[in-house]
Amino acid sequence: MLDKLTQQPPDALLALIKLYNADPRASKIDLGVGVYRTADGATPVFRAIKAAEKRLVDGQDTKAYLGPEGDMGFVNALMPHVFGDSLTAKLTEAGRIDGMQTPGGTGAVRLAVALAAKAGVKKIWMGTPSWPNHAQILADCGMEVGTFNHAAENGSADMAALRDVIASADANDAVLLHGACHNPTGVDYTNEEWDEIAGLLKDSGTLPIIDLAYQGLGDGMAEDAYGMRTLVSAVPEALVAYSCDKNFGLYRDRVGALYAIGGDADVVTRIMSNGSSLARANWSMPPDHGGAAVRVILEDEDLTADWLAEVEDMRQRIGQVRARLAANSNAGGVDLTPLGRQKGMFAMLPVSKEQVEQLRKDHGVYMAGSGRINVAGLTMGNIDAFVAALADVTG
Ligand code: LMR
Repeated sequence: MLDKLTQQPPDALLALIKLYNADPRASKIDLGVGVYRTADGATPVFRAIKAAEKRLVDGQDTKAYLGPEGDMGFVNALMPHVFGDSLTAKLTEAGRIDGMQTPGGTGAVRLAVALAAKAGVKKIWMGTPSWPNHAQILADCGMEVGTFNHAAENGSADMAALRDVIASADANDAVLLHGACHNPTGVDYTNEEWDEIAGLLKDSGTLPIIDLAYQGLGDGMAEDAYGMRTLVSAVPEALVAYSCDKNFGLYRDRVGALYAIGGDADVVTRIMSNGSSLARANWSMPPDHGGAAVRVILEDEDLTADWLAEVEDMRQRIGQVRARLAANSNAGGVDLTPLGRQKGMFAMLPVSKEQVEQLRKDHGVYMAGSGRINVAGLTMGNIDAFVAALADVTG
């Protein structure tokens, strides 16, 4: 029976981690998977996380099961940072919001799509290019996928494409949007565009599923949530998939949350009961440790302030790298100036698969085959080498 399985290719992005580790060149540059690096090229555990983990080691008195929804202290403490104080209060008082912990942002997206499918959604619209795992999750959930162009020729988001999709979408369709720091293009909707999108979705009734995986790494914590908050304020129903992997540096601990916004408390209760049963059938319950560490931080004012300062440092550094890259309007024919206007960790370069291969072989520069680079993998010490390598293969 099992011999009928056909060989699957390894995940191209995750395969880069191994390729990079096996490269003996000291000058190699990792711009592959989305992991933040400091000015020294390190990916340290956050100070606030270390402090919270120490408290957990000393104070945690059991590791008994919590349940499919995970640590609700974590979910509720995170909510005001995601939705803002006033929207959180408004939705909570009306019983219109609830959430549950998930294994990373991926688990949250998976659960959102599975919930949408269970509710009768047949087709999900997705801007392309997108994070490759989005398409895999949609396919795995048996969802029909409709695509539209995300980034326009002029470097802005392609609002016309989204407008058309929302206007033509069926009543049972959903649309999957990146809340901020679009992966892979770095091209986000402006606040004015989010205002318009919120109005369009409100009128059309299309269910928004928002993936917010990089809050704080674009323009700031509140700024990066503007679009999602505006949408959620306008529409009766929405699903928000959240990741703490980047903005708490918890990658391998898999920390995420799914928030469901419904028309009334009764609907929300039913959504969450379905979320719980889907979680139980998929992973039973999320891993506890990372979520517990986030809860400890968010329950403590000083640790919260320190965490926010660390996120702000990351944001500033990403901005500096982007500005430095953007100073190169002609890196062998590649214009890097748009990177100065884009947000977050990622950018797409107009390079061919062969050029990506050449960058890896000849220069030890590792990036996704799509031409996506993780801007946060660059430091002031290796930017010039990267730009020179790019110029070499594209010039
Ligand atoms: C990425 O896009 O590099 C990150 O979201 C990591 C991942 O899981 O793919």
